[in-house]
Amino acid sequence: IINSLTIHVILIMLSFAVTPRFVLKGEDVTLDVQKPDIQETTIFAWRFKREDNVVRLVNDEVFISTNYRGRVEFSSVDYSLLLKSLTEADSGVYSALLSGDRDLKVAEYEVTVQEPVSPVHLTVNSSSSDSCNVTETCSSQDSSISSTLTCDGGNCFLEGGERSEVTASAASIRVYLLSGSVICNHSNQVSWREDRKETDKERVNHQPPPTTLSNPCIKFTLLALSCTLQIL
Ligand SMILES: *[C@@H]1O[C@H](CO)[C@@H](O)[C@H](O)[C@H]1NC(C)=O
Ligand SMILES: *[C@@H]1O[C@H](CO)[C@@H](O)[C@H](O)[C@H]1NC(C)=O
Ligand SMILES: *[C@@H]1O[C@H](CO)[C@@H](O)[C@H](O)[C@H]1NC(C)=O
Repeated sequence: IINSLTIHVILIMLSFAVTPRFVLKGEDVTLDVQKPDIQETTIFAWRFKREDNVVRLVNDEVFISTNYRGRVEFSSVDYSLLLKSLTEADSGVYSALLSGDRDLKVAEYEVTVQEPVSPVHLTVNSSSSDSCNVTETCSSQDSSISSTLTCDGGNCFLEGGERSEVTASAASIRVYLLSGSVICNHSNQVSWREDRKETDKERVNHQPPPTTLSNPCIKFTLLALSCTLQIL
């Protein structure tokens, strides 16, 4: 009996890891737990930051802490915890515990509440008007990255491939090419905003293939700019 009990406890301890949950500010999240067997003297609790009990279940009676009244719902059926209209202050670790002679953790979540990302703008700098290169600058409120778009013979590429940077607000800002468009994408785990500029594919495709020309250089620009064929 002792052996199987020990194995059971070990299995419980191994069967979960801290689960990350990202939530958009103002939204709800439900934290689930595999419903444990509860002895008469055992208390089940959801605890925040390892010290504040959010809810306790004592002898089938549910106690919700004053701080959380109206903001959480506890299900006596499956022991899940619903946290409502989250704010940044609700970010942190939530643990489901069985308290008897000692505490036994049965589930743990790291909840991160994030604001939606701010808009981004993709701007094109083509000051060196007679080159095939244009500079694409992707900027958000708190950061910006640039990449050079080079087009040759109808093929466009960003120098150095995709570029990305992590912003001060832990979001990421990326510039890349996707099916003929340069995309500037600002994203975090719960939201993303983009700005894009199409490369003027059709007009380039209608040009004669530049393979017979020496040093062909199609000035392959974005819609905002005029598209011309340059033969050097
Ligand atoms: C545009 O390019 C010129 C020359 O390469 C540079 O001096 C200027 O700072 C660039 N402007 C922006 C907004 O990146
Ligand atoms: C574009 O710029 C890069 C470096 O800035 C240069 O190596 C390359 O030759 C340029 N391409 C064209 C077609 O001008
Ligand atoms: C922007 O990035 C997000 C997160 O990686 C992704 O889900 C989304 O599809 C991207 N948008 C575009 C237009 O590529």
